[in-house]
Amino acid sequence: HRHLLGIEPLHPSEITTLLDLADSYADKNRTADKHGTALKGLTQINMFFENSTRTQASFEIAGKRLGADVMNMAMQASSIKKGETLIDTAMTLNAMHPDLLVVRHPQSGAVDLLAQKVNCAVLNAGDGRHEHPTQALLDALTIRRAKGRLHRLSIAICGDIAHSRVARSNIMLLGKMENRIRLIGPPTLMPAGIAEFGCEVFDNMEEGLKDVDVVMMLRLQKERMDGGFIPSEREYYHRYGLDAEKLSHAKPDAIVMHPGPMNRGVEIDGTLADDINRSVIQDQVEMGVAVRMAAMDLLARNLVSNRG
Ligand code: CP
Repeated sequence: HRHLLGIEPLHPSEITTLLDLADSYADKNRTADKHGTALKGLTQINMFFENSTRTQASFEIAGKRLGADVMNMAMQASSIKKGETLIDTAMTLNAMHPDLLVVRHPQSGAVDLLAQKVNCAVLNAGDGRHEHPTQALLDALTIRRAKGRLHRLSIAICGDIAHSRVARSNIMLLGKMENRIRLIGPPTLMPAGIAEFGCEVFDNMEEGLKDVDVVMMLRLQKERMDGGFIPSEREYYHRYGLDAEKLSHAKPDAIVMHPGPMNRGVEIDGTLADDINRSVIQDQVEMGVAVRMAAMDLLARNLVSNRG
């Protein structure tokens, strides 16, 4: 592939290849010798049109660890504010010959569109409610390291599924790897037509969490509810917030995940989120750097072979 725009076009064997490489980067990242040369001489530009802590920081660290020249566009201070379009901005940067463009944008499909216009490799860092492929890949690596495998697991994805690109990318990835996926949340936050993805749907946490291996919590994406129904946080926490009691319905060794940013006391109890015996939330962040190193490494190999 020339770009990483989503999980949808990836074959299970390609996912495994990327995770294997990321696994070795994750081990290396725990040593004093973190640096490599896979992106030496390449220019990486990060363009984040939406807020980010984890994704932007880890893409920057990943690029620098592999020797790229990394530039973070300060989008708030850019000429987008003067009315320049996304494509004009991208073409302007394209003229500076970057090799890797990492893009987050609030509109679904914006990153695909941009990828059609530029000459470099584009990595989707989250577009609207469409896809967040590196998040699903880092979640997969976290699960594989915690559970020893990434197939035939029972995985619950809970909360605001309808507005979540994280849920969409995870449903596709975990489905391709032959896991059983349960979606739990209020019917108002379930996307239409979700049954065709082969997921079981529940609106009750106790039922949905029964005997699952993995519990993945999601934030209420209020910024995408544009005028629609927004549940009260107190009511939502009571019915759908993960606490020790609700988690007791899952397998005794079930792990708790959250892509972040999390809202403590809304979708998850703060004490549970910090419980290192159950929560792998910090491991997810750690795997984020390794997965982004692997993704950019593989795309860079393609750039080199395409240039002959
Ligand atoms: N999980 C995730 O995408 O976090 P950020 O929005 O902080 O990048």
